[in-house]
Amino acid sequence: MIELNTISKTFNAGTPQQVRALRDINLTIADQEFVIVVGANGSGKSTLLNVIAGVAMPSSGTILLDGMDVTHWEDYRKSRWIARIFQDPFMGTASELSILDNFRLAAIRTHKKGLSIGIDSKFKTKVQERIAMLGLGLEDKLEQRMGTLSGGQRQALTLIMAVMDDAKIILLDEPSAALDPRTAALIMAKANEIIREFGLTGILITHHLKDAALYGNRILLMREGSVVHDIKADEKRKMTVGDLQNWFV
Ligand SMILES: Nc1ncnc2c1ncn2[C@@H]1O[C@H](COP(=O)(O)OP(=O)(O)OP(=O)(O)O)[C@@H](O)[C@H]1O
Ligand SMILES: [Mg+2]
Repeated sequence: MIELNTISKTFNAGTPQQVRALRDINLTIADQEFVIVVGANGSGKSTLLNVIAGVAMPSSGTILLDGMDVTHWEDYRKSRWIARIFQDPFMGTASELSILDNFRLAAIRTHKKGLSIGIDSKFKTKVQERIAMLGLGLEDKLEQRMGTLSGGQRQALTLIMAVMDDAKIILLDEPSAALDPRTAALIMAKANEIIREFGLTGILITHHLKDAALYGNRILLMREGSVVHDIKADEKRKMTVGDLQNWFV
């Protein structure tokens, strides 16, 4: 599903501020694989997701999605396939708009021809059904302004928005970092459920080793722009939080 061939990303090349954020990354992620990425601050985790999403352009190397060369595609061209969830629950949604209008906006953004999409009653029913999957009672509050919802509620809705448009890939950059422990656990469980239920290919960045041990079927450890450990499903199943902690010393 995702193939990175010798991907490098250097910021501020040729200046004293030069940073080699990604160094010759070779990575193949299969369809429906759920990859957890861990690593110290500044090790290149977000840059990796940004390059895959087309928010940042690689300095060298190629990126294939589903066999198609998308190396130089910008994010809007990939948004049909790739959904993103960020640390900040306020990113990715418009506070002033209602829940339903946020879903309409998201639908319009990802469909080329679709100004008519998102205004009919069929669309509303679909939104309602999907939101009901969260089990948070938000399906009855479609007219409520997004800005009046808690961070956890917004993050949960952003997850659902990601699967409205049949995205195949979901990239999550510390989606629970800004949430209280209980809500964080809920969002992680929902993310896991949604990835499984919709058969998505997922990449999740987290600093919580417990989540890394609990979720996904592969773990990458990044250090200084390189992937230094790549643990596949069989091995991952046997790994404990303690094993993961040992990587960081
Ligand atoms: N737009 C940018 N311009 C210049 N340098 C950048 C830019 N984005 C990232 N970097 C640098 O690239 C390196 C990797 O950053 P990145 O954000 O990918 O790390 P990270 O692993 O996500 O860290 P964290 O855990 O703190 O989120 C860092 O040294 C960072 O300062
Ligand atoms: Mg980051």
